[in-house]
Amino acid sequence: MRVLVAGATGAVGRLLVPLLLEAGHQVTGVSRTLAGTERVRRQGASAVQADALDPDGLRQAVTAAAPDAVINQLTDLTDADAGATDRLRREGTRNLVDAAHDADVHRIVVQSLAWVYAPGDKPADETVPLDLGAAEPRGAMVEGVRVLEETAAEIDTAVLLRYGVLYGPGTWYEPGGAVSAALGGDREARFLGNIEADLSVSSFVHVADAARAAVAALTWPSGPVNIVDDEPARGRAWLPVLAAALGRPAPGPVSGQQSWARGASNELARSRGWEPEYASWRTGFAAQDA
Ligand SMILES: NC(=O)c1ccc[n+]([C@@H]2O[C@H](COP(=O)([O-])OP(=O)(O)OC[C@H]3O[C@@H](n4cnc5c(N)ncnc54)[C@H](OP(=O)(O)O)[C@@H]3O)[C@@H](O)[C@H]2O)c1
Repeated sequence: MRVLVAGATGAVGRLLVPLLLEAGHQVTGVSRTLAGTERVRRQGASAVQADALDPDGLRQAVTAAAPDAVINQLTDLTDADAGATDRLRREGTRNLVDAAHDADVHRIVVQSLAWVYAPGDKPADETVPLDLGAAEPRGAMVEGVRVLEETAAEIDTAVLLRYGVLYGPGTWYEPGGAVSAALGGDREARFLGNIEADLSVSSFVHVADAARAAVAALTWPSGPVNIVDDEPARGRAWLPVLAAALGRPAPGPVSGQQSWARGASNELARSRGWEPEYASWRTGFAAQDA
């Protein structure tokens, strides 16, 4: 299959490109920069320089690649800029879907989120509605995800990968990353919002498992699929394990719970044959150096 990857140089994309090549696909990766396109080429794929916020440039890039499928791994989170990623979810997805239509593409796989569900007391499956109307700043994020998913669903087959909190190489959770700095007392380091509160429940996924899911999703039917590990966990369980893996002191208790922080179930993804290599953050956090 000819596959165009938007976001080929990101934390997921850079692992995804070689996996797609290994699976026998012809891959074109998109980056805004020359350095990004060179990086993709060094991995053995084709590359094209384009900005997802530039409709004409993106259209030309997609048309030239003539893909059978588009994978959207676009975020703009290097500076933890929620507004920039929100814009990318809305405008970038619009431009990508329009370009895909023009290029007669009938399959798209997009990166979405697994913590946008309405509040509840057990891990959410994909039938739980989105938490539309949530208070800000969460409300804008959930609305951005709704737009992302609904825009993608204009393509005949649209698989919406609702990723848990990503950890592993290239993420905030890697050794020496932003979370490690925050745990070390760096007040400038951006931390995680409120999911670390003692009773809040989070679902994690290792970036390598996230990338593997995107390859598998090229043959899945339309709809949302949670891509999370097997063990949704409260902050008081996972945070000390993470701190130990990063060689940092465990932080003191943070009282409270976000009612929406309920974790997610991976039953559907597993029923389709996806199995996380890192089935739990318990072993995955410690393996980030590997
Ligand atoms: N579910 C999650 O927990 C989650 C999800 C996503 C990201 N994150 C975190 O966010 C942090 C940064 O993520 P990241 O390393 O993937 O980097 P990022 O800065 O979010 O960029 C991701 C990808 O999007 C591309 N991109 C961004 N804006 C673009 C635009 N306007 N046009 C075309 N391409 C564009 C980037 O390409 P170029 O820069 O090469 O143009 C890159 O390939 C990491 O810690 C990651 O773990 C977490």
